[in-house]
Amino acid sequence: MINLASPAAPPAKTFGRTVRAFDTIDSTNTAARACIQEGDAEGTIVTAEEQTAGKGRLGRSWQSAKGKNLTFSIILRPEFAPAQFGLLSLLAGTAVCETLREEYGLDASCKWPNDVLVGGKKLCGILSEALHQSGSSPAVIVGIGVNVNESTFPAEIAQSATSIAIATGAEHDRALLLSRLLGRMEYLYRTLSRGDSASIIARWTAHSSTIGREIRVTNAGALVAGTARGIAEDGGLILSTEGRMITVHAGDVTLREAS
Ligand code: BTN
Repeated sequence: MINLASPAAPPAKTFGRTVRAFDTIDSTNTAARACIQEGDAEGTIVTAEEQTAGKGRLGRSWQSAKGKNLTFSIILRPEFAPAQFGLLSLLAGTAVCETLREEYGLDASCKWPNDVLVGGKKLCGILSEALHQSGSSPAVIVGIGVNVNESTFPAEIAQSATSIAIATGAEHDRALLLSRLLGRMEYLYRTLSRGDSASIIARWTAHSSTIGREIRVTNAGALVAGTARGIAEDGGLILSTEGRMITVHAGDVTLREAS
């Protein structure tokens, strides 16, 4: 039986044991790639106060004011099949969502594939990238940007972004948030690594603002409209559309307005 209760996660043991901390860097995901090539262990994190070329999904950029937020990447060396790597973004989104709900009292939700929303606005984005190296097992970089203490955003995202400070009316300790996130992520990663993908999918679904809704998914100019039915074993989104079930693996989801 799947246990959806989410007690306070124990402190992380391996996640964050090694920290590569930068003041300014292009992207923590790019730096993590170099760390992997140098053999850094699973759980190593790369943090930055400022990214000059922060990467978002689908070739977009990620903007974050210097010293206000959390921008970090974690190196994973999963022992499960690459077909399940897509679940790692959902795992990270679940960890962020549960932390925001339980430690900060926020009504946070997960939006497929890997956004975390509060009040319909984006508070966290996640970018996972797999690195396949000849002669060794693949590694995965999970990059996480959480808006913590930012109070005003650039004009182009001002209407769609929020932060913990805006949502709670108070500034928060970023180091404490990071340690809470790492504890929860490590706990969920151990769950997934022992084969319990069902728990990760169930926990993500419990916080989802996507499943059961009429949605549109756009990707590179293509559009699919349907009802979001669930999450597949590889992290894809299962949709019913025109009388059949399909699974999509990338794209932007928008909710369709009730007519
Ligand atoms: C998205 O929502 O488009 C994903 C945003 C991911 C941003 C984080 S910030 C830390 C890490 N480093 C990056 O360059 N990107 C991710």
